[in-house]
Amino acid sequence: MIVGLDIGTTKVCAVIGERNEQGILEITGVGVCPSTGLRKGVVVNIEATLRAVAAAIEAAEMMSGREAHDCWTGIGGSHIDGINSRGVVAITGKKRETREIGPEDIARVIEAARAVVIPMDRQILEVIPQNYIVDDQKGIRNPLDMIGVRLESEVHIITCSVTSAQNLVKCVNRAGFRVTDLVLQSLAAGRSILTQEEKDLGVALIDLGGGTTDMLVYTDGAPYSTSTIPAGGTQVTNDISIIKNISFETAEKIKLDAGCCWEALLEENEDIIVPGVGGRPPLPIPRSQILTIIKPRMEEIFKMVKEKLDKLNLSRPLGGGVVLSGGGAQLSGVVELANSILNLPARVGSPIPSPGLGGLVEEYRSPAYATAIGLVLEGNDRSAKLEGERGSEQADKKHADLLGKLKSWLTDEFF
Ligand SMILES: Nc1ncnc2c1ncn2[C@@H]1O[C@H](COP(=O)(O)OP(=O)(O)OP(=O)(O)O)[C@@H](O)[C@H]1O
Ligand SMILES: [Mg+2]
Repeated sequence: MIVGLDIGTTKVCAVIGERNEQGILEITGVGVCPSTGLRKGVVVNIEATLRAVAAAIEAAEMMSGREAHDCWTGIGGSHIDGINSRGVVAITGKKRETREIGPEDIARVIEAARAVVIPMDRQILEVIPQNYIVDDQKGIRNPLDMIGVRLESEVHIITCSVTSAQNLVKCVNRAGFRVTDLVLQSLAAGRSILTQEEKDLGVALIDLGGGTTDMLVYTDGAPYSTSTIPAGGTQVTNDISIIKNISFETAEKIKLDAGCCWEALLEENEDIIVPGVGGRPPLPIPRSQILTIIKPRMEEIFKMVKEKLDKLNLSRPLGGGVVLSGGGAQLSGVVELANSILNLPARVGSPIPSPGLGGLVEEYRSPAYATAIGLVLEGNDRSAKLEGERGSEQADKKHADLLGKLKSWLTDEFF
């Protein structure tokens, strides 16, 4: 059983997945609860957050009929940062005589690459290998068993604030659950919605959340850049609320029902009703008026994305374009706007059933659930890998035991 927990600024979502005998992950429970204890992806109110976490997990438990204990928990927000680093080692593994690269050489070269100076108040969240260089041969995805004298690795290191991570873990613990591991939210979203082809061609995942807009850029199949823009859907709603002088809740409803950020998608003379405040009668206004409030804010967000992309100075354009996730990806016209500002093909990324993923009902095939579904998938991958490693360790031990026994039997019998 795998539990994914996405603690967002507007909602907490828990997903329970169960791996069947065929190795297929079946989604058996989903629970969602509004979240009020976070600002821009960071916990600012422990009590409110732990209550939302408990409620979301309970709802998922009810649906699946199973009890959750450990959760793969997502982490995001403005404190996340990504850097690229490299490490180099001489090949000295078990197969030293042949100079064949063994798993321990790969582990050592990753370890060497993660030896970067990071401030005391930050911790390493993920170290993701991008590619390897064996002697002078560049761009190797998997160097295992290759022959050489020198192994170099290029990695993407993602760091986060120690206190933000601690507060997140504290909320989960106080709600009565353990954190198996923290996983970067956008990495999880990427796991559920990006194709291998997009990652190979180069793609920017843009998660339009409530509090922040998170970006993860892939090049040559691996993460290359991680960044956050401290603006999201909540600002859009705030703008409507202030300009139209209505409550946040009413503004949110108008945004969800009638929001749009691309003129060509509007029909002529479309009116929407804005409820009156303080006894005033409801007022019909043209839908285009809402567009003039939403569009500038969304443009601002995508212009900031463009600035970040331009700064990367990529050697070639992102062939896979941009893929939008998060609740904000459901805004009408957002694909057209992203496409026109970023000058790249854009699409909305929703988790879809695949040969390895079952039980995903229609309701959750939405970009708003990309992170939560991705957390279960990522948790499943990582726990399967750990089980595999443990299995081979045990097999190695058995093998060694057997050899030992054979050796002592031979010595006893013949010498
Ligand atoms: N149909 C829609 N049109 C426009 N915006 C929408 C729509 N549905 C949801 N949103 C917006 O998406 C935002 C919530 O997105 P999401 O659920 O991805 O955020 P979150 O994960 O809680 O926050 P974050 O990732 O920033 O911590 C809200 O601002 C909401 O108004
Ligand atoms: Mg989110």
